[in-house]
Amino acid sequence: MTVCEFRAGLEGVPVTQSSISFVDGQHGILEYRGIPIYELAEKSTFLETAYLLIWKELPTKEELEAFENEIQYHRRLKYHIRDMMKCFPESGHPMDALQACAAALGLFYSRRALDDPAYIRAAVVRLLAKIPTMVAAFQLMRKGNDPVQPRDDLSYAANFLYMLNEKEPDPLAAKIFEVCLVLHAEHTINASTFSAMVTASTLTDPYAVIASAVGTLAGPLHGGASEEVIEMLDAIGSVENVRPYLDDRLQRKERIMGFGHRVYKVKDPRAIILQGLAEQLFEKFGHDKYYDIATELERAVEEKLGGKGIYPNVDFYSGLVYLKLGIPTDLFTPVFAISRVAGWLAHWKEQLNENRIFRPTQIYTGLHSAPYVAIGDR
Ligand code: SDX
Repeated sequence: MTVCEFRAGLEGVPVTQSSISFVDGQHGILEYRGIPIYELAEKSTFLETAYLLIWKELPTKEELEAFENEIQYHRRLKYHIRDMMKCFPESGHPMDALQACAAALGLFYSRRALDDPAYIRAAVVRLLAKIPTMVAAFQLMRKGNDPVQPRDDLSYAANFLYMLNEKEPDPLAAKIFEVCLVLHAEHTINASTFSAMVTASTLTDPYAVIASAVGTLAGPLHGGASEEVIEMLDAIGSVENVRPYLDDRLQRKERIMGFGHRVYKVKDPRAIILQGLAEQLFEKFGHDKYYDIATELERAVEEKLGGKGIYPNVDFYSGLVYLKLGIPTDLFTPVFAISRVAGWLAHWKEQLNENRIFRPTQIYTGLHSAPYVAIGDR
């Protein structure tokens, strides 16, 4: 077997063959099962998109209704999970709470019947249905309140905003949140998806697979960037301070959160759509300083770093949308996870179809036959 050359971060190294999604980083193209993201953002819903990603085809009307009904039925959490969340410190990060709850789900369901399509479907339904309820429940409980039960008469997106804010969302807000969920659902072999695949390749249960992916998404270089973007816009404080702030950060060789991408060398197509959604929300619910600072920062970064292919990624404008939807900044990444569960599950299923456990190699740079030195002689 020939050993390939070492590529830090596996940059440009194919680790699987997949038909789930496609990204062209030079031309800013993203497709789910071949359908352009713009089409799905405009015409689809999150559950229809999740079905497409996981079962390869857009569902018929009957298939979609059955899937939606199953999800509605499974939105509630077992009281054991809620009781467990009561022991979590209010100051804990919601991504840590989500990772713990996702893993805990595995305690309630039979471990591994991975060759049984009914088991696969049940796991898909439970994870898609319960993760939003977990995120909203932790939010209310860390404020000292009881979580509210999901409402079966609300769509997937509207129900999450209802559980989070304890009031029915404005129809425009629910529609825009639905689009955000579609946009974040899948993105080929990003770090958290790869983490899910590696875990899946050991044939462990799907709850452990999702818990692995949640832990990976939490990092600031990946899904955690959206939270950092708002903190950065706060630190900038005004349009006038954008360029001095940027110069100072670049001087210190610090990354500008929400910019750059391993694959996109143009503006992320999802950032373009999210910017439009932010504009709609500001128009309806009132303007605020973040948008002006963000657009000025985008111009300034393009002048300085555009030549290196560094443009806004999905995390740059998503935070502006979420803030307007009443989502606290430290819930931005859990919201990313709510959506990306669809992509993770699609890759979990695809990995099982032709599984081979991931076990890469290394280029060894250490010693050989080294002596064991007794502690007194060290
Ligand atoms: C997501 O993979 C996915 O698909 C992820 C995602 C998904 O949907 O799953 O799209 C979601 O994770 C989006 C990315 C969110 N992260 C951030 O916004 C954090 C800031 N971005 C960077 O840390 C960075 O751009 C990465 C991590 C996203 C990508 O980094 P790479 O591909 O490893 O790039 P690199 O570190 O090799 O940098 C190449 C050059 C370097 O300059 P030189 O040393 O060559 O002079 O570009 C510079 C970097 O310093 N650079 C940046 C920068 N990103 C890269 N400089 C300033 N600010 C940045 N944001």
